[in-house]
Amino acid sequence: MTRRIGLLTGGGDCSGLNAAIRAVVRRAEQDAATVLGFRDGWRGVLDQEAEELTTAWTRGLLHRGGTALGTSRTDPYREEGGVDRLRDTLDVLRLDGLIVIGGEGTLAAAGRVHADGVPVIGVPKTIDNDVPGTDLTIGFATAVDVATDAADRLHTTAESHDRVQVLEVMGRHAGWIATYAGLAGGADSILIPEVPFDVAAVARHLKYRAGTGRDFSVVVVAEGARPVPGTIEVPESPTDEFGRPRLGGIGHVVGHELAARTGFEARVTVLGHVQRGGRPNAADRVLATQMGVRAVEAALAGEWGTFVASRRPLVHLRPLADATGGPDTVPPELYRAAEVFFG
Ligand code: F6P
Repeated sequence: MTRRIGLLTGGGDCSGLNAAIRAVVRRAEQDAATVLGFRDGWRGVLDQEAEELTTAWTRGLLHRGGTALGTSRTDPYREEGGVDRLRDTLDVLRLDGLIVIGGEGTLAAAGRVHADGVPVIGVPKTIDNDVPGTDLTIGFATAVDVATDAADRLHTTAESHDRVQVLEVMGRHAGWIATYAGLAGGADSILIPEVPFDVAAVARHLKYRAGTGRDFSVVVVAEGARPVPGTIEVPESPTDEFGRPRLGGIGHVVGHELAARTGFEARVTVLGHVQRGGRPNAADRVLATQMGVRAVEAALAGEWGTFVASRRPLVHLRPLADATGGPDTVPPELYRAAEVFFG
């Protein structure tokens, strides 16, 4: 009997998703298994909107950003009759189970869906790199490249004008992008959600630098970074339609405070979705390909309820529950290496 696998990409997009889709289809075809691709994440599964994916369909996808399947933040548990509709879809389309490529939210839903009797295998992706149980997620390496390039460019203009350049990068619960891009880009201060920041200490450091003849600075701030309570006020973020705070803007607060406290001119760049778009770098293409291949092999072997984790240079299967235990944050040891350069 032909094996039939459903595939979806859910949550925020990132570079490398198409490479993963291509790998799933190519590996499935090797074993004459059929892949049905659902449109727009869980939304397509709920609405039975799917098409058969073939090698011809995947041509030219490897190096393309975004996801050719589309994505959404639809959560089956927030939809009327959600899980029953998923079960119906699997029955009607005669699917053995689903390969779900997603971040923290999508994989959490995948875990519940699996527990509710819909066979699932997870593949972790998010530029934030905060899925537990895996060294890396698809999309992170490319986002770091983009953010590092931005830091490099801000460096030269900061130096020309003797300015403070604040670069805000994504990172909702974890400061992986800020830490990596800040380290790689030679930032003079890196502010991350894991470590509440003291803006007075950052200002002192910038003044100290100026006193030693370096009268420009680059400060990298993760969007989820917050000040030490009781120091400065940060406006509440509005929430999106899924009840999540719509982050972005902390860089402006930091830039304003640093200018006021140092007297230096400050400029702010909010990098935003530039980090999520465009061509995946080589590392993401390789990771996505490894993960896509492994996910299909797990599906063919009936190893449902698992996810594909990275343990460089290989990938391996772990229980899906290991991917859903709350955000994987930057270890203090790593942040301490970055702090060497703040002093
Ligand atoms: O996917 C993670 C992420 O990139 C976060 O870092 C960011 O806060 C969020 O997505 C933005 O989501 P949206 O694309 O819905 O604005």
